[in-house]
Amino acid sequence: MSEVQVHAAGQRPSAAAAREGCGRLLRVRVPADAICWHRFFGALQLALIGLLFLTGVLMALAYTPVPGTAYDSVDYFQFSLPFGDVVRGVHHYAWNLLLVVMALHLLRALVLGAYKAPRQPVWVSGVLFLLVIPLFIITGDLLPWDQKGYWSTQVRFSIIASVPLVGDFLVQLLRGGPLTGIVALTRCYVLHILLLPGVLLLLIGLHMYFLATRGLSGPPAGEAAARPQVPFLPTIANRWLAVFLASAIGLGLAARLWPAPLGDPADPTDSSFIPRPEWWVLALNQLVAIFKGPFMVIGSAIIPGALIFLLAALPFLDRSPERRPSKRRGVLLGAAVVLAAWAVLSVMGYVEHFVQPEP
Ligand code: HEM
Repeated sequence: MSEVQVHAAGQRPSAAAAREGCGRLLRVRVPADAICWHRFFGALQLALIGLLFLTGVLMALAYTPVPGTAYDSVDYFQFSLPFGDVVRGVHHYAWNLLLVVMALHLLRALVLGAYKAPRQPVWVSGVLFLLVIPLFIITGDLLPWDQKGYWSTQVRFSIIASVPLVGDFLVQLLRGGPLTGIVALTRCYVLHILLLPGVLLLLIGLHMYFLATRGLSGPPAGEAAARPQVPFLPTIANRWLAVFLASAIGLGLAARLWPAPLGDPADPTDSSFIPRPEWWVLALNQLVAIFKGPFMVIGSAIIPGALIFLLAALPFLDRSPERRPSKRRGVLLGAAVVLAAWAVLSVMGYVEHFVQPEP
């Protein structure tokens, strides 16, 4: 894909080498077919992550991670500071959209067989995003210290606690005591703004490194054919910038029109509050509810863990070089069954939590 060469281990970079590195970056070329609508998902994900970082930093300037003031600081940011509603709204809509786009990006790679050799590490590093992004959402949910975030976190702690051997330890590690209070809030805050962003940046670096060294896939039926090239700078970089600006404007407008939700302040004594699961966990919630008591772990850890493992192992299980979707019916059928099960569970969850009247 590129002419970029990686420095040999131990080689000391000098000013001349740095200049040479910049020169090489300017000469990086990618296949012209990198500019097509279904590759747009990768660029959009980068844009959304950029927006999440930017708006997150702005919100952190006003946020105080203490139960007594966290809610007020978020409320003040959203409703009293100029453009506070836009910044918080963009953050809110960006993570929701990121989940959708990530699923489309994964499906594209799955249908077109882009996970196959030599791109197995690109795929495996991609699967790791599926673990990291939900952790961002879970830790971020507690930060506004409103009823929904507080009680959703309580539900999540009880689900994590159901995992044998490590469950109680993980909850203790996150909560730091028997109650969800200042220690839990501080730990979620540190994870959300420090540790997870570090891990995410590392993952993006890995994903891009593997892409640069293994190359973008060509058309499924004729990968070996010579492909015209275009320069990464400025052709592709400009398109990425355009995607970033368009998403910033689109999400900014959405944030103004439909403000990000902020419920009542958390009341840890009000255990009558039943949080409704968000759209992206409806299926998982149903799965956990199917297996009761000691079997809960099947829905909370065994099935989701097995699915993630199978997904990561896909390039090593499906090793034939064939990439045409019409010749890979087994893999596509398996994926369709998982998708259909996910959709049915989500609809069941939606009906249970949003359509049926409260008892
Ligand atoms: C937020 C997370 C992610 C970001 C920022 C990201 C970014 C990108 C970008 C910019 C590209 C190149 C353009 C393109 O082909 O779309 C790409 C390609 C690719 N990504 Fe991701 N990605 C993410 C998540 C994932 C996930 C979850 C998977 C799969 C499990 C994945 C697997 C792949 C594969 C296989 C390619 C190569 C596609 C090809 O060569 O045709 N990525 N990614």
